[in-house]
Amino acid sequence: MDSEKLPEFFYEIFDASLPRLGPGDEASTLKALKMLYPDEPRHRDKTAVRPTRILDIGCGNGAQTLVLARHLEGSILAVDNHQPFLDELRRRAVAAGVSGRIRTALRDMRSLTQSDGPFDLIWSEGALFVMGFHAGLAACHSLLTPGGGLAASELCWLRPDPPAECRQFFATVHPAMTDIETNLAAVRTCGYEIVEYFPQPESAWWEPYYHPIEERLRLLRPRHAGAVDNLALIEHMQKEIDIYRQYSAFYGNVFYVLRRR
Ligand SMILES: C[S@@+](CC[C@H](N)C(=O)[O-])C[C@H]1O[C@@H](n2cnc3c(N)ncnc32)[C@H](O)[C@@H]1O
Repeated sequence: MDSEKLPEFFYEIFDASLPRLGPGDEASTLKALKMLYPDEPRHRDKTAVRPTRILDIGCGNGAQTLVLARHLEGSILAVDNHQPFLDELRRRAVAAGVSGRIRTALRDMRSLTQSDGPFDLIWSEGALFVMGFHAGLAACHSLLTPGGGLAASELCWLRPDPPAECRQFFATVHPAMTDIETNLAAVRTCGYEIVEYFPQPESAWWEPYYHPIEERLRLLRPRHAGAVDNLALIEHMQKEIDIYRQYSAFYGNVFYVLRRR
C-alpha cells in the first residue's frame, strides 16, 4: 500500500471509513503493549521507561493509534502519506477524547530522520513493509532512544510448504515476504533485543478487516461494471481474501515486540 504506485480507485476500496486498513485487532495491540510495559512490578524491566514520545508509522485511520492513546500517557506522532486517513484518525481521536495527545503528519515514512525524534516507543502495524522490513527496522533503530520499544507487525510465512497457488500469489504481490526466523535474524542484526513475537489470530483478519472490505467490494462491483481497470482491482482484492480463506495456515501477520539494545 505505498500510495506512490496506487491507482486512485484503490482508495475507493480502502475508504477511510473502514474500521482499519490492515489485519489487526485491539487485543493484539494490547498484548504487544503489555509485553513491552508489563504492569506487574516483578516483571518490570528496570531499564524500560514508560514511553512519553511515541511514533506510529503508517498509522492509517488510527485503529492502533487510538488504543495506544487510551492506554499510554505519552504524546503520539502519527505518520501516514494519505490525508483522508489522517483526517479520519483525527475525527476518531476527538470522539474518543484523546486528540490532545495525538499529532498527525502527512509524511512519507522514508523521510523520517533523527531530527524528528528521539522516540521512546515506535509502533507500526502492517506498514514497515513499505520500506522493507529489514530497512524499516534499521530506520526505527536510529529514531529510538536506547532501551526504547518497537512493536511492528509484518506478513510472514508460518509454514515452509505453502501450496503453489498461495506461493505464486505472494511472489507477485509481496515478493519480499519471508519467514519468522529470517525476520528474527534481521531484528538481531539491526541491534534489537527480542522481547516476544506472536502471530495475530485469524479473527484479526476477518472481523475488523476482510469482512468490511468484502462488503465494500460487493457494493463497488455493480457501480464499476463498465470500468475494466477498476473491476480488475476489485477482483484482485477478492483474490487476496480468497487466498487467505483457503491458506491461512501457511502465512500470518506476526507481531515483533522488540527493544533497542
Ligand atoms: C496496511 S495499512 C496499515 C494501516 C494501519 N496501521 C492499520 O493497521 O490499520 C498501511 C498504511 O501505510 C500507509 N503508507 C503506505 N506508504 C506509505 C509511505 N510511504 N509513508 C507513510 N505511510 C505510508 C498507508 O497509507 C496505510 O495507511
